[in-house]
Amino acid sequence: MALIAPSILTADFLHLGDELRRARGADLWHLDVMDGHFVPNLSFGPAVCAAVARASDVPAECHLMVERPEDLLAEYARAGARRLIVHAESTRHLHRLLSAVRALGCEAGVALNPATPLAAVEEVAGDIDLLLVMTVDPGFGGQKLLRGQLDKVRRARELMPKVQIEVDGGIGPENARDVVAAGADILVIGSAVFAPGEDPGARLAHIRDAMHETRETP
Ligand code: DX5
Ligand code: ZN
Repeated sequence: MALIAPSILTADFLHLGDELRRARGADLWHLDVMDGHFVPNLSFGPAVCAAVARASDVPAECHLMVERPEDLLAEYARAGARRLIVHAESTRHLHRLLSAVRALGCEAGVALNPATPLAAVEEVAGDIDLLLVMTVDPGFGGQKLLRGQLDKVRRARELMPKVQIEVDGGIGPENARDVVAAGADILVIGSAVFAPGEDPGARLAHIRDAMHETRETP
């Protein structure tokens, strides 16, 4: 059964503790760290990640959308992240970066932007725990899923049977089932879980139902 990793990007930051508590059934927290350079948006840093890790027994992973990730790994490991996900596009020395993540005692994940081919990660497939396939251009929550990327998910599943495949961007009740059918082990879901006036726990349960529901094909 696929796991759901809610992204807190669109949560109510003033009441983050309550938001986490209300998101009953979350399998892990997905923390979108944005530096305003690698992506055109700024989110939060290690202090917020540490607060989330402390507040909950649910493990947390950091998705680092930053320039020079090598300079920041240790801080996010110290913040309590179980897994650090770095972008293949953010470094010249991906293998060295992944070794550094593991040396810090964290699981290592690599993220690929929609325009980046799978080949960018093929040679380090044996060095990663997880591949994150972006189904939107990173930087913002609430974008529409790029359906063409589901083919990349299918190919990744075949190419890397031992690596967990996570999919991030534009996922909601209307397409969660298709993403799982393409081969995803973990779905990152932001705005479809955390939205003003909504109960994140109820949203999660609804998505989980939609993920497994069988549908008539015309
Ligand atoms: C995009 C982030 C995603 C995003 C998911 O840059 O990496 O994790 O916040 O949000 P939704 O589900 O709203 O696309
Ligand atoms: Zn993300």
